[in-house]
Amino acid sequence: SLGGITSTRAKPTFATMATQDELKKQVGYKAIDDYVTSGMKVGLGTGSTAAFAVERLGELMAAGTLTDIIAVPTSVRTKEQAESLGIPLTTLDEFSSLDVAIDGADEVDPQLNLVKGGGGALLREKMVEIVADKFIVIVDESKLCDALGPGFPIPVEITPFCHEHTKRVVEALPALAGKCKAVLRLGSSTNNQVDGDEPAVTDNGNYILDLNFDEPLTDAPAAAAQLKATCGVVDHGLFIGMTTAVIIAGSDGISVKE
Ligand code: 5RP
Repeated sequence: SLGGITSTRAKPTFATMATQDELKKQVGYKAIDDYVTSGMKVGLGTGSTAAFAVERLGELMAAGTLTDIIAVPTSVRTKEQAESLGIPLTTLDEFSSLDVAIDGADEVDPQLNLVKGGGGALLREKMVEIVADKFIVIVDESKLCDALGPGFPIPVEITPFCHEHTKRVVEALPALAGKCKAVLRLGSSTNNQVDGDEPAVTDNGNYILDLNFDEPLTDAPAAAAQLKATCGVVDHGLFIGMTTAVIIAGSDGISVKE
């Protein structure tokens, strides 16, 4: 436990880290190979798994295998990676719809609902991924869960203005009351472990509350709706009904769930 934020996901040991990275690479590469064709507008996710997809896109564009691609990044980090690989970029201000978006996730439930935002990019991710014709999620099997909630804190992006007040309002929402503890994320917004004393600030200048649950969230759509309707909440990391397909890498190989 670090400063009240506890991740229940087992920490990879040094011996297994390379394997997990390899799994992330497999799904990242497969998403580009199977879902991106020349001429597409592509949303690029954020995080260690999405970074492999960006890497593969850059590689296939440099090789001339993919042409006429234009991409929309979901964070400053992804923008910088894409720029370094020479991937042409645009924004939703230029194009309000995309052919495909590819991103990782923190948790995936059996209905393919997600928790996202462990890396702090949830608002831009949701804005970009919600306008994509196909939203492809790439994970290793450690991200699969029976129900959202206890496995990974649910991030909520809030305004810095009166954030203590917003925290109390969020904890008292009918779908959440008595079930979760909201913790202001400190340190780097890109990591839901505390690594500093100051509030983490997102790419949009906002703060993040991480909602810690002991029990499964029984009605994730209700929680999502109540969070979204809360004044002071900008958006939240519950991605409900958005997923087209999940590419999962596990010890038995790669599978796709639709
Ligand atoms: C960032 C995200 C990421 O997609 C999520 O945290 C998964 O990251 P990783 O692939 O590094 O495990 O939502 O805001």
